[in-house]
Amino acid sequence: MRILVSGGAGYIGSHTTLQLIAAGHEAVIVDDFSRSKRSVIPRLDALAGAPIEWYAVDVTDRDATESLVAGGSFEAVIHFAGLKAVGESVEQPLDYYRVNLGSTLSLLAAMGRHGVRKIVFSSSATVYGENAAVPMEEDFPTSATNPYGWTKVMQEQILRDAAVADPSLRVALLRYFNPVGAHASGTIGEDPSGIPNNLMPLIAQVAVGRREKVMVFGDDYPTPDGTGRRDYLHVEDLAAGHVAALDRLGTTADPVSTWNLGTGTPTSVREMVDAFSRACGRALPFEIAPRRPGDIAESYADPSRAETELGWTADRTIDQMCEDTWRWQSQNPEGYPDDE
Ligand code: WQD
Repeated sequence: MRILVSGGAGYIGSHTTLQLIAAGHEAVIVDDFSRSKRSVIPRLDALAGAPIEWYAVDVTDRDATESLVAGGSFEAVIHFAGLKAVGESVEQPLDYYRVNLGSTLSLLAAMGRHGVRKIVFSSSATVYGENAAVPMEEDFPTSATNPYGWTKVMQEQILRDAAVADPSLRVALLRYFNPVGAHASGTIGEDPSGIPNNLMPLIAQVAVGRREKVMVFGDDYPTPDGTGRRDYLHVEDLAAGHVAALDRLGTTADPVSTWNLGTGTPTSVREMVDAFSRACGRALPFEIAPRRPGDIAESYADPSRAETELGWTADRTIDQMCEDTWRWQSQNPEGYPDDE
């Protein structure tokens, strides 16, 4: 299939684009490069073994998105484009609603006008809110405690309502747990702009010497070692989940399907620091700091629906996640080069 990948120059989008191509699809990247670098494109071309078609378009721009989809002969959209920092969303809520909801509305409008019937949406375990039991199941109620989380809850609702209005639409809501890791080549990986929010890029920056130590946000949680536990999954497993979901949309009778993409196994902050120390060959310095407001003790998936319905499991190990992240970070200490 010919597939439009919004945010395809980003961390998860770039890894998914490669796997779509490896699966025989024609993946076309659209990205405004506001949170990604154009220098990823030649690296993707090299890994794909052929030039990848791409467009520098802001998909919140309805006219530009209309023009792109009108002339694109796309059979599906995978929608990654969006803002994703919890803290930033509290400071800049209007930007988060404008970009995250606006991009989805703009893409759906263009899809409806041009007969594009399948969409895979990048959702997040954050929609389970802060009072969910573990392991989290897809039928749990959704809620949020920050504007970023609300944009994911609302985008899911927009997509469900769009499918009620047009039952020929096929929607996959993919709820990511904690994506980490990098392509085994070490030439593409996670390159957050500014100060990273997430644990793994912060650990990697300590390992490569860009940061002094890992601040462990709280060791008094009700968990075995007192530190927060999350369901980390390798970005390559996550990318494979998108390919599987896309294929499933071709056969499912239900207009909307929701799948958790996680391993089902939690890992603590301390365990992750230890695993990364093994990967980089030295004990990484860390300091226990106060809890981060809004953090929950534990978050991990019940991945059984994706296993059953998609034939998908996230089976790369924590050590592999750390080894692949370390290869990317050590080969690219400053991340992707700035655009020439
Ligand atoms: C993981 C664990 C922290 C940094 C967020 C979003 C979620 C998704 C993934 C987008 C927690 C601890 C972290 C640090 C630490 N994003 N930590 N020191 O909060 O589970 O999820 O990112 O879709 O929507 O909510 O991920 O990587 O920020 O934190 O101790 O310097 O690491 O307390 O236990 P989180 P995270």
